[in-house]
Amino acid sequence: MYEQVSHSLLNDILTEIEAEIKDKNLQYFYTRLGANFYAIYSLFHQLYGHRDDFKLQLHQLVKILTRSYIARSEDLRQLDLAREKNHNWFLSQQWVGYAIYCREFSGNLKGLDKRLGYLQELGINMLHIMPILDCPKGKSDGGYAVRDFRNINAEIGTVEDLDALAVNLKKRDTLLVLDVVVNHTSDEHAWALQAIAGDKKYQDYYYVFDDRSMPDLYEETMPEVFPENAPGNFTWNAEMGKWVMTVFNDYQWDLNYQNPAVFIEMVDIILYWANHGADIIRLDAVAFLWKKIGSTCQNEREAHWILQLMKDCCQVTAPGVLFIAEAIVAPIEVIKYFGEDAINAKECEIAYNATLMALLWEAVATKNALLLNRAIRSIPDKLERATWLNYVRCHDDIGLGFDDNDIRLAGYDPALHRQFLLNYYTGQSASSTAKGIAFGTNIKNGDARIAGSLASLAGLEAAIEQNDADAIQRSIDTILLLHGVILAFGGIPLIYYGDAIGTLNDRAYLKDEYKKNDNRWIHRQIMNWQRSELRNEKGTVEQRIFSGLKKMIVTRKEITAFADHNNRELIALDNPHLFCFVRFDGAGRYPRVLVICNFDHAEQSCDIDGLRKLGLLSHAVVKNLLSDDIIDLSTSMLSIPPLGMYWLDT
Ligand code: GLC
Ligand code: GLC
Repeated sequence: MYEQVSHSLLNDILTEIEAEIKDKNLQYFYTRLGANFYAIYSLFHQLYGHRDDFKLQLHQLVKILTRSYIARSEDLRQLDLAREKNHNWFLSQQWVGYAIYCREFSGNLKGLDKRLGYLQELGINMLHIMPILDCPKGKSDGGYAVRDFRNINAEIGTVEDLDALAVNLKKRDTLLVLDVVVNHTSDEHAWALQAIAGDKKYQDYYYVFDDRSMPDLYEETMPEVFPENAPGNFTWNAEMGKWVMTVFNDYQWDLNYQNPAVFIEMVDIILYWANHGADIIRLDAVAFLWKKIGSTCQNEREAHWILQLMKDCCQVTAPGVLFIAEAIVAPIEVIKYFGEDAINAKECEIAYNATLMALLWEAVATKNALLLNRAIRSIPDKLERATWLNYVRCHDDIGLGFDDNDIRLAGYDPALHRQFLLNYYTGQSASSTAKGIAFGTNIKNGDARIAGSLASLAGLEAAIEQNDADAIQRSIDTILLLHGVILAFGGIPLIYYGDAIGTLNDRAYLKDEYKKNDNRWIHRQIMNWQRSELRNEKGTVEQRIFSGLKKMIVTRKEITAFADHNNRELIALDNPHLFCFVRFDGAGRYPRVLVICNFDHAEQSCDIDGLRKLGLLSHAVVKNLLSDDIIDLSTSMLSIPPLGMYWLDT
């Protein structure tokens, strides 16, 4: 849109930096800046228009967009152009993600380079390396407490190592995902140190208060993220003689986005890593970006404006780069991180599907899909050019964030059901073989989440201890079933490192003084490469999981119906143990793959005539794409093995 005020301001800015931009090849930059500037101006004005320094700050923002574009390599600029042309590229079924802690997975970045073959063997082509930036040794929150946003942790490598890795990943057509921890910094970050030293400019980068009056007001409505090891949302800094907002750990200082300088710094950092070859940036803890007294300080409207503005800025300088929203919030809220009131995603193109993740674990515990079938419908349709990141386990805990109403509609009492799940996964119920532990127990409201590795939660640890072959098989089937859903459901599947070989809980963290209070470390193990070799030995647990997963990945990539275009329909079946959906191919809504999962430990059957009546099965025999078996549909009931799954090629 052409709008006089903003465009004359833009002309002023460009005139001011004329010398810098002269003789540079900026044709595409100008087009994108022109196209996006009204949106950038409007959002920036909504957020910061009341400030005296509004124009000055906007000048600064455009300058960093320009400089970052000038610094962007020709190769990356070409990639931007290709992705603009083929703008739905990331909705393709070909992408399969994998998340790692670099240190635990491969020691360092150079070591990671040597493991790319392993990832390729599994079929991975999107690699999320969790934060590798410089952070204090102990007080690091696994890298999520950054001391220097432009330097890599010396133990993990250098920026040059990362550049080399990015080049190698591109050769393998593998996407690089890096974190930018936008919500907070370490208390040892230069900004924090200057704030502590009394510099007012940097105190304004954070939420800093002289006494408890404001913190107390905030606390009235702010929940606690880590009630056990970091209770409260504010920390007293004796040196500064002030309280500072610390929503996560006491050494993680929340950035103050009411200050435009903070916003501009963070955009600069996002573009810095985009220029170092990140294809996708994971924005950490985005729900927390804006704090307001009287609110939970989560999912505030302004947090969305900040993200939209970040996206618009990125679209000017590095339009090929996507954002992942890490917002572990209710479905009705999470969907807004794609962009509110929009058709195309205009905030983050990708969001974690925590709802599906938690529901899958619920189905494993109850052995039925009652709540899964019910609650999955609460996830609204996503926007165009947006997709989910579907996962079973990640480096964080599992929250039981289901909607109470959905739980009731599935026939359970919400409080009792949550307690059942918690007992189940922490091994306190007789019916369970899961070996998780409670994380973040809040004695004030009884909330708790679950930590533990996928395999240990799925019963593998207990089964191995008891040397029970049937139980081992059940846990392997569970692991494959869960992955089968995330690979088929629609979105980008994200596999957590170690899960492809059934890595168990690791209690070594208890001996580390910095980790022992955060039991999420039980599932952040050092990758056991020796065990991983067993994937090549027929009949081992590692081989059964790895090869099963690999087969599913290969199959997913071949089936275009698995691309994510809102081409899924849930199918209600009479049998409560079964979860069923169909994936359509293309615009013709031609049924292509019928997915049926059985969460029970016994064989279950499904009414074929019913599916036929829905027009979902037309042939007398169909192929199960997962095993290549031909399935006879001439009978009226189709039986699905215990914890089994079909991907029927209709
Ligand atoms: C393909 C490539 C991806 C690229 C895109 C551009 O999907 O694998 O890396 O950005 O096409 O069209
Ligand atoms: C995100 C990370 C988590 C971290 C938190 C604070 O939720 O995934 O590991 O503790 O942010 O940075």
